[in-house]
Formats: sequence, structure tokens, C-alpha cells
Amino acid sequence: MTGRITILGGSGFVGRRIANRLVSAGYSLRIPTRDVDNLHPDIRVLPDTELLQADIHDPEALLNVIAGSRAVINLVGILNEKGRDGSGFRHAHVDLPRKLLQACQALGIRRILHMSALNADPVKGPSHYLKSKGEAEDLLHAGEGISVTSFRPSVIFGPGDDFFNRFAGLLRITPGLFPLACADARFAPVYVGDVAEAFVRSLNDSAYFGKRFDLCGPREYSLAELVRYTARCCGLQRIILPLPDAVSRIQAAVFDFIPGKPFSTDNYLSTKIDSICKCNDLRTLGILPTALEGVVPNYLRI
Ligand SMILES: NC(=O)c1ccc[n+]([C@@H]2O[C@H](COP(=O)([O-])OP(=O)(O)OC[C@H]3O[C@@H](n4cnc5c(N)ncnc54)[C@H](OP(=O)(O)O)[C@@H]3O)[C@@H](O)[C@H]2O)c1
Repeated sequence: MTGRITILGGSGFVGRRIANRLVSAGYSLRIPTRDVDNLHPDIRVLPDTELLQADIHDPEALLNVIAGSRAVINLVGILNEKGRDGSGFRHAHVDLPRKLLQACQALGIRRILHMSALNADPVKGPSHYLKSKGEAEDLLHAGEGISVTSFRPSVIFGPGDDFFNRFAGLLRITPGLFPLACADARFAPVYVGDVAEAFVRSLNDSAYFGKRFDLCGPREYSLAELVRYTARCCGLQRIILPLPDAVSRIQAAVFDFIPGKPFSTDNYLSTKIDSICKCNDLRTLGILPTALEGVVPNYLRI
């Protein structure tokens, strides 16, 4: 069954991959953006894809954007907010899903695929990011008349990612010793192609309606191991210097005031729970997790 799918946040790193996969499967897409003139070239050339400028936080505009869709995928997310009180995270991660739920109910759209994050929890989440993601999951799954599937990935890798590419950039401009906050935090990076496949496989299968899927790669690593690996892929000789926890926290507090927040107190708090899966639901979905060693060197090499 094909038809039109609207992807909120479809212009981003994960969205582009899901969009590509859906178009190949015969779907037509609608992707709203805040800045239609600055879209990634990969999204501009997608066939059967309507790109439109819209303020999806405005309930009227949101209704117009999703009208006529047989399902909506919500990928909108931020890693940092402008302030520090959590209201920016709530605006993007909770208020928008609430408006989306209401809009879908008003229009009779009965299917939402929602991007959350591993360890999202409205109560136990240690950061505004994880709390707000958890709150959104719960409110969507409690929505009447809508079948929701949520996806909870660890950090996602692939060409154009913000994780390996960011560390590669930092390592290149930091000669010799590389001080690293939260070096012991553990991750199970998951391939963007596998995440996209999980969305596509879940779209029409009623067995997956109402489910929340934890998505991880095949192996767990400490942040220090991942950064050392990044340096090796880039051909850089660097000594990774793990910072003590108290210093990591101070670094985050200082970086809170740097424009763009390369590392924030909220990011620091998110690493207080290891981003690893107890049960990797990629396998539940019949997807063999892709090892990062077969992918990352191809896009990090200069
Ligand atoms: N990347 C990861 O490692 C990772 C791991 C776990 C979970 N996630 C989650 O996966 C989702 C997608 O991540 P990504 O890496 O693809 O992010 P991304 O590249 O930054 O893309 C985010 C998308 O959301 C839209 N967006 C951001 N803030 C918005 C706002 N305030 N209002 C409306 N739209 C907004 C952007 O659209 P425009 O700029 O075009 O308007 C963009 O298309 C997010 O929810 C993220 O939390 C990502």
C-alpha cells in the first residue's frame, strides 16, 4: 500500500535517508521545512517529493501540511536549546507532537511513526532532552484512534552524521593531546540505513503498531574508543585525554555559553545513562545491524 507520507524533520540527516528509502518503495512525500532555500541537495532531487516552507508549530499550518497524508513521520528534534530551562526542548519535543496528534485526530490520519531516543523517559531521563523525548512518546502512545510506533536509537552514524564528523573536525584542529569529556560513556552506534529500514518496515505492519523499538548497532564502545577510532580513520596521531567527571561538568557549563553549544550541560547529563540496548529491536524487525567499521572509514577519510 503506497500513498502520500508527510515527514516532519524530513530534511535532516535521518530524514533524508528515510525519504530516499520511501520514494524507492513507491511513496510520494511531503516535507515541510523552515527554510526551503537552504535544503540539502539530496532532498532537492528526490522525485515524487513536495518540499514546502511552513511553520509546523502553527496548528493551522500543520493541518495544511499533513492534510491528505495516510501517515506522518515525526523526526523533529534538537540536541540543544537556546536557553537552559528545558522550555526549548519541550517546544520541539513535546508541544509539537501534541499538536501533531490533535491534527491527525482532526483529519482522520491514523498512523504516526515517531523518532524518540534511547533512554527517553519523562521521569528517569537525566536531561531535558531525554525527559522531553520520553514525555512525547507517552503522550503519542496514549492518543485515541492513532496507531503509533516509536523508535529509540542510540547515536546514529552514516555519511553526513553529526557524531563522527563533529569529532573528526575537532580532532583535526586539536594537535597532540585531545581532552575528552564523558570518555567512559558507552554507546552502541546504529547505522542510519538500518534506522531508515526500521521505519519503512514498520509503516504498514500492524504487528508493530503501538510498539517502541530500541535501536542499536552490533557493538558497544566507550566514547574514548569511538574518538580514538575516529582519529585513526582520519589518519591523525592524537592522544585522547579522558577528563575527570567534575572537569567534564565544568567544561559543559562553560560551553553552555558558547554560541551553538558544542557540548552543553544537558548533553553531559544525557551521558549519565549508557546509550546501549538491553534488547536490540533491529533484530525484532528482521534487520541485521551494520558494523560501523565497514562504513565510517569511507566518509571520514580525507
Ligand atoms: N542523529 C542522531 O544520532 C540521533 C540519535 C537519537 C535520536 N535522534 C533523533 O532523530 C531525529 C532526527 O535527527 P537528525 O540527526 O536527522 O537531526 P537533524 O539533521 O538536525 O534534522 C532535524 C530536522 O528537524 C527539523 N527541525 C529542527 N528543529 C526544528 C524546529 N524547532 N521546528 C521545526 N523543525 C525543526 C529540521 O528541519 P528544517 O531545518 O528543514 O526546518 C531538520 O529537518 C531527531 O528527533 C533526533 O532527536 C537522532
